[in-house]
Amino acid sequence: MDVKEAIVKRRSIRKYQDKEVPDETIRELMYAARLAPSGNNAQPWKYKIFKTEEEKKMLKENSIFKQDFVYTAPIIILCCGNTKAYPEKKSDRLDDSNHARAIRDLALSTQNIVLRATELGLGTCYVGWMDKPKIKKLLELPEEYIVPYVITIGYPDEQPKTRKTIEEILL
Ligand SMILES: Cc1cc2nc3c(=O)[nH]c(=O)nc-3n(C[C@H](O)[C@H](O)[C@H](O)COP(=O)(O)O)c2cc1C
Repeated sequence: MDVKEAIVKRRSIRKYQDKEVPDETIRELMYAARLAPSGNNAQPWKYKIFKTEEEKKMLKENSIFKQDFVYTAPIIILCCGNTKAYPEKKSDRLDDSNHARAIRDLALSTQNIVLRATELGLGTCYVGWMDKPKIKKLLELPEEYIVPYVITIGYPDEQPKTRKTIEEILL
């Protein structure tokens, strides 16, 4: 599969087969994650992988997610950005805030994960609808970490919704 095909094939998948995702595959995803570009090469991303039933039960008991499908995903990757990963701020009005920088760099890294997962036959879904203060507290994450979303991952058990063709949207 080439990059274009992965971009075309990637769609949000919220139903997964009851099939384990091998550890080597998860490592492949992390390999792709670490190679993304970032401002100052700060690489502000940090990932926490949840895969055991115990871990998912703990998330559920704490009502971290509002959508039940998240707890049924074989893998849940919490995507964090360290806002302190950047060199001390120059007083330059062209700079974004460290919060914005962490979010934008993290997004590049996570899209590498998602596209590589697609290439490996996996389905993914970004999920931003979660109790962020609570998960930070549960995991005792440093104050400076942002946790904008998780990515759920597993072998797909649904067909993604179709999109209109170019011809259909042209008047
Ligand atoms: C940052 C981000 C957060 C998202 N949060 C959620 C979410 O909380 N729950 C959900 O079901 N889908 C979530 N999505 C998935 C979007 O709904 C989905 O990407 C969009 O409808 C387009 O569909 P597609 O991914 O199949 O192309 C999120 C997507 C992104 C990029």
